[in-house]
Amino acid sequence: MQHQASESRYEDMIYQRCGRSGIKLPAISLGLWHNFGSEDIYENGKAIIFEAFDKGITHFDLANNYGPVPGSAEENFGSILNKHLKAYRDEMIISSKAGYYMWQGPYGEWGSRKNMIASLNQSLQRMNVEYVDIFYSHRYDPETPLEETMTALDHAVRQGKALYAGISNYPADKTREAESILRELGTPCLIHQARYSMFDRWVEPELLDVADKRGIGVIAFSPLAQGLLTNRYIHGIPEGSRMSRGHFLKQEHLTNEKLQAIKNLNNIAKERGQSLAQMAIAWLLKDRRVTSVLIGASSVMQLNDNLNTLKNIEFNRGELDQIEAILHTIK
Ligand SMILES: NC(=O)c1ccc[n+]([C@@H]2O[C@H](COP(=O)([O-])OP(=O)(O)OC[C@H]3O[C@@H](n4cnc5c(N)ncnc54)[C@H](OP(=O)(O)O)[C@@H]3O)[C@@H](O)[C@H]2O)c1
Repeated sequence: MQHQASESRYEDMIYQRCGRSGIKLPAISLGLWHNFGSEDIYENGKAIIFEAFDKGITHFDLANNYGPVPGSAEENFGSILNKHLKAYRDEMIISSKAGYYMWQGPYGEWGSRKNMIASLNQSLQRMNVEYVDIFYSHRYDPETPLEETMTALDHAVRQGKALYAGISNYPADKTREAESILRELGTPCLIHQARYSMFDRWVEPELLDVADKRGIGVIAFSPLAQGLLTNRYIHGIPEGSRMSRGHFLKQEHLTNEKLQAIKNLNNIAKERGQSLAQMAIAWLLKDRRVTSVLIGASSVMQLNDNLNTLKNIEFNRGELDQIEAILHTIK
């Protein structure tokens, strides 16, 4: 049955222009790396996607390997889209990526044209869509000429299998090179998807400026440091949490130092009348170079907590200084 989307879905979301492109992205986007695979509860994933769309999240981020099992997030997303949201396809920005390990043999990962195009074809099939809106090179491949990877992105766009090209996890210098190649090919680099949170600021010294100067939008992934920058772990490790599963977020990530910083940040968030998750998202959105913050959520409740960020994204100097002082206490 088709989902009847909320009439008020565009009322509270903020949309920001992605670099120097014609596209606007929601300030908060939803990623399907976790919680939407074949080992997760389908109905829960469906409820999160409906709620997200009903609240103005137009951008859903996927990759070939999201699951587990790899590929199953695209299958589930495609099934939900085609069964329930098909009427709204033109209101959505769906992205996918290729570059990390996906299948056996020498062509199942990295940045060869072979991998990029074959992987995109698989993603389109899994999602049962004619095109994705953004197709990314998921990581820089030091062994493949950058021209080859960028030409594959350009080719995908020219074939109409993707509307825009993006890069993810590229260091600043390779971002410059990739952008130049894509510009010459006539397919501008729309966006850089980079890990960025209070706990991981590698983009600050150089990458954000490179993106800004080159007219590339930035979408910040793992803005909550996979859940650390929330109240999830303040009183231990809850069953079912990402850390309790231990594959991507491990107990050793939660050092005493970090736990103390989380508690201190939580106190500032409380003073601001926000949850820590909301403050962590707002802290990223204060930078106008950040187009969108790409969250994950394992429940509708978490999603709504995160969406309520938009009620307060302003910081005063004192708050920023206090946050900075806390962040300096951790390595
Ligand atoms: N390009 C890349 O290489 C790359 C890499 C990683 C991610 N990404 C993208 O970025 C997206 C987001 O990454 P992420 O899932 O690591 O983001 P995140 O927002 O940092 O972490 C999401 C997790 O934090 C917890 N959480 C979220 N909201 C919460 C709240 N309000 N209160 C308490 N806990 C909360 C949940 O964990 P529990 O499961 O414990 O509830 C949730 O699954 C991915 O889905 C993917 O699209 C891209």
